Amino acid sequence: MKRRNFLKKATVSSLSIVTVSSLLNCDNNINLSDKTIPIIKTKIKPIVIATWNVPNATEIAWKTIQKGGSSLDAAEQGCRVEEADINNQSVGKGGRPDRDGNVTLDACIMNKEGDYGAVTCVEDITHVISVARKVMDNTPHVILTGYGAKQFAISEGFKAENLLTDKSKKDWQEWQKTSKYKPIINIENHDTIGMLAIDEKGDIAGGCTTSGLSYKMAGRVGDSAIIGSGLFIDNEIGGATATGMGEEVLKTVGSFLIVELMRQGKSPQQACEEAVKRVVQKSGTRYKDFQVGFIALNKSGETGSYCIHEGFSYQVYKENENKNYKSEYFNKS
Ligand code: GLY
Repeated sequence: MKRRNFLKKATVSSLSIVTVSSLLNCDNNINLSDKTIPIIKTKIKPIVIATWNVPNATEIAWKTIQKGGSSLDAAEQGCRVEEADINNQSVGKGGRPDRDGNVTLDACIMNKEGDYGAVTCVEDITHVISVARKVMDNTPHVILTGYGAKQFAISEGFKAENLLTDKSKKDWQEWQKTSKYKPIINIENHDTIGMLAIDEKGDIAGGCTTSGLSYKMAGRVGDSAIIGSGLFIDNEIGGATATGMGEEVLKTVGSFLIVELMRQGKSPQQACEEAVKRVVQKSGTRYKDFQVGFIALNKSGETGSYCIHEGFSYQVYKENENKNYKSEYFNKS
């Protein structure tokens, strides 16, 4: 049967799985028989999902889509809300500093084409998610770090400002009294914002932004700015993003894993559970001391979330059964 005819005749529900080898006339020796890709038929409604209790961020992301913005615009604008909020001590301005008292930020963004931009260890610039987008849009590179990232941001018109607020400075000074200069590795000090959005066209994009592990060593980079770990988007399948102990997410490449599991037919929920299981298995009993959580969204608009410990939460903005759009908060306790 010709490929076009096969595709026409294939009746699919909202999400069906077909084998790649049945779509391609393979004449090489690569065995693709166990690879699967979903085919989406129904129109997907816009949706925004983000880690933690961030109703303002998801609302702005949602409004961006309502005004005709893309999912990429939505993810960027949503992340900016938390970066500007000085009461959020894990993201942007007001973030907790490294152990030397310097606030350093990591962020990344991915669009529907699978393009990626990121910055790591950036000082004095609040909206690193937007700098990451500029890296993606305006440079031949994908990651800029430290001084170079800051200089690039300034050349793009970003304002340099002090990110260490009085509150975060006071907390850091308290920490110094008892810490013996050891970074804090525990399950509380993580509120990285990872956001995934689908727009009116049905395209998915995402962003992730953080000040990282509290009182980390200078120069430490976590998962949030690293493609496949803190965030991964594939416009054929969906997206995933992470929060929590970056070192553990990096070692298991959690967000890429989730998207690949969804490609193979797992639901977002099943895929998040499997990714957390990998972290737990890999870390032995150490998982008791840290938190890792994932959220995922597939191209049917289905969501999933899973974490190691209680206390993880996430926010979804979508159409409800009465055709009203509203934000819902889910606390995984
Ligand atoms: N997930 C944020 C970090 O570990 O830096």
